[in-house]
Amino acid sequence: MEWTTSELRQSRGVVESYREFLQVSPSTPIVSLGEGNTPLIYCPQLSKRVGRGCEVFVKNEGVNPTGSFKDRGMTVAVSKAMERGANALICASTGNTSASAAAYAARAGISCIVILPAGKIATGKLLQAFAYGAKIVAIDGNFDDALRIVRELGDSHEFVIVNSINPDRIAGQKTAAFEIVDVLGDAPNFHLLPVGNAGNVTAYWAGYRDYKSHQRSTTLPTMIGFQAAGAAPIFYNRIVEKPETIASAIRIGNPASWKQARAAIAESRGAIDIVTDEEILAAQSWLAKHEGIFVEPASAAAIAGLFKCCDSNEAAYSLQNIPEASRIVCTVTGHGLKDPDAITPGVKELKPVAPTVGDVRRSIGL
Ligand code: F0G
Repeated sequence: MEWTTSELRQSRGVVESYREFLQVSPSTPIVSLGEGNTPLIYCPQLSKRVGRGCEVFVKNEGVNPTGSFKDRGMTVAVSKAMERGANALICASTGNTSASAAAYAARAGISCIVILPAGKIATGKLLQAFAYGAKIVAIDGNFDDALRIVRELGDSHEFVIVNSINPDRIAGQKTAAFEIVDVLGDAPNFHLLPVGNAGNVTAYWAGYRDYKSHQRSTTLPTMIGFQAAGAAPIFYNRIVEKPETIASAIRIGNPASWKQARAAIAESRGAIDIVTDEEILAAQSWLAKHEGIFVEPASAAAIAGLFKCCDSNEAAYSLQNIPEASRIVCTVTGHGLKDPDAITPGVKELKPVAPTVGDVRRSIGL
């Protein structure tokens, strides 16, 4: 027999879980890898850092099928593309979109072209695109150049663009907000997340609003987005020609959803702020060591941002005087194993010892 994803309840994917909120019909062929339904993890150590009885939860999007939140949007975008008879997908990427597009194209049995900034993609993500059989083109340029080329190629209608300029991507990514409300029983008070091309902050805000208008929640969160200091066009309100940051996923100088992100931030009375590479790497390490959650640097921007909002007088949004027992959700967007390069310098060389209990005891200081 042929199983459908809806029969396998645990791994039915975001389309089957939230059909009524998505533009799919019974005849849409659903291309799913069982994405979504990611854990919302209560974090006692992070909650303690905030204090005042506040509760901090991490939405761990790194456990999606290709290790990032992109899979939520990709299942919808690729399902709709198949419904329209697509033969090939195309995307520009800082790495995660290409990994996800390549996987869902493989699943759908169509081809996938990915345009990447040469030398700027984290090892794990590049490896994924190869493994899933995408056709990969590296350009001597940055992500913004790659997206410009993709927009032009997409105009010819030979390819379906699966970047977040495709509204089906944003629609699918809204489901993360639905899941959070479903678990907490209402929207959180604050939602913190990293911002690159600004599709995800746009999607979360749309998701929270959809749910509220359907009486699934009574409130809306304050949205607080974080860009890397060297790649912060929205924060500085100007295009950054040569964006630079260790968090390669958000190394973007001219975000496609700039306006929508600004609107989400304004409507929710939130803020856009910046975090430095040092703060990002420190937060990445802190989260792994204190909460057991290992994320890639771009994801750690949300955690670095939380620390800034708690500790710094320079923060664009202070969490120092928020109401007691506020609920804060931080989205971590991608798995730490995707980007080993970022932490490799911190990995100490291991000198082998003799294979005896005595030598092992001595080497751990007993
Ligand atoms: N975190 C990770 C791990 C990402 O890969 C991205 C974006 C973001 C955050 C930012 O999300 O663009 O919706 O604001 N990665 C894209 C890519 C650009 O090509 O994989 P955004």
